[in-house]
Amino acid sequence: MKALVLSGGAGTRLRPITHTSAKQLVPVANKAVLFYGLEAIAAAGITQVGVIVGDTAEEIQEAVGDGSKFGLEITYIPQERPLGLAHAVLIARDWLGDDDFVMYLGDNFIVGGITDLVEGFRDNRPAAQILLTHVPDPRSFGVAELDPDGQVIGLEEKPENPKSDLALVGVYLFTPAIHEAVRAIKPSWRGELEITHAIQHLIDVRADVRSTVIRGYWKDTGNVTDMLEVNRTVLEGLDRRLDGEVDEASETVGRVVLEEGARIVNSRVVGPVIIGAGTEVRDSYVGPFTSIAENCQVVDSELEFSIVLRDSSILGVARIESSLIGRHVEVTPAPSVPSAHRLVLGDHSKVQIHS
Ligand code: G1P
Repeated sequence: MKALVLSGGAGTRLRPITHTSAKQLVPVANKAVLFYGLEAIAAAGITQVGVIVGDTAEEIQEAVGDGSKFGLEITYIPQERPLGLAHAVLIARDWLGDDDFVMYLGDNFIVGGITDLVEGFRDNRPAAQILLTHVPDPRSFGVAELDPDGQVIGLEEKPENPKSDLALVGVYLFTPAIHEAVRAIKPSWRGELEITHAIQHLIDVRADVRSTVIRGYWKDTGNVTDMLEVNRTVLEGLDRRLDGEVDEASETVGRVVLEEGARIVNSRVVGPVIIGAGTEVRDSYVGPFTSIAENCQVVDSELEFSIVLRDSSILGVARIESSLIGRHVEVTPAPSVPSAHRLVLGDHSKVQIHS
């Protein structure tokens, strides 16, 4: 069995973060979303992985390399334009050969991995096995309609009037039966060959399409609250590990991960919290459910329930909560006279000011 991991696509939904970075590399608890997927694939006993890349190919290849750090053998497959998930299967045809495969969308996050799923699929080998999850607003997903026995009877891509609240999760298992299906479909209104339509084709020709409903699912829908929530869930599973330095005047409480080369000076850090290599927390408070990436500075500040990406500094600010802060960002107090906010914000930024 092989894995086909999709890491192309523009990533307009988590702007401004994805203006400058591939959406699959957005970090959750200081680790790229894509890496959780690759680890889940490796844990399921799959080693041969084809990674579909687009405009952000260079960045993805730099982050993932040849896959050896995940125990994987990676082949990069360029997709010249984002022409759809079924198009990705089309262009990977030769690499996939006649193997069964799991298709994994690199911007999807699944709590608990895919090992059981892959094992179940190996035993039964339906033409397609899809994952579904209940979502509050299914209109930005593929949506499944089930009969009373739980059998999938229809799939629609981003319907205006969804027939259920069951969204298609971006992990699919296929036998080679999918190759005929991806050749049989036409592009959708958005000009893409939709995998949803290819699976619908399998249903139409009465192939065996099975579904499993899961919990613990996240994808970037542009919603920072959701991102903070998935960050919280992952941090809750951390084990305390202090590889960095903590001075005597500091206190670390509970599940705190301090990477090597990170420093906590005269501060109080209450877990679950992760602090990346090269980051310094000085004269500050860092509260639960916070991820601070590498090479940041948090000085004379209070920060809680937030995500800070690498190379950013928060200096003299009390207090930041429920925030997503990008890379190379500086947050500092304004001069007290005149009493005004001074902002330099990128496109699609969002600021909530307490005044
Ligand atoms: C794609 C699929 C959609 C699925 C979603 C999951 O959407 O077309 O059916 O629900 O992935 O991530 P896209 O990310 O292309 O909008």
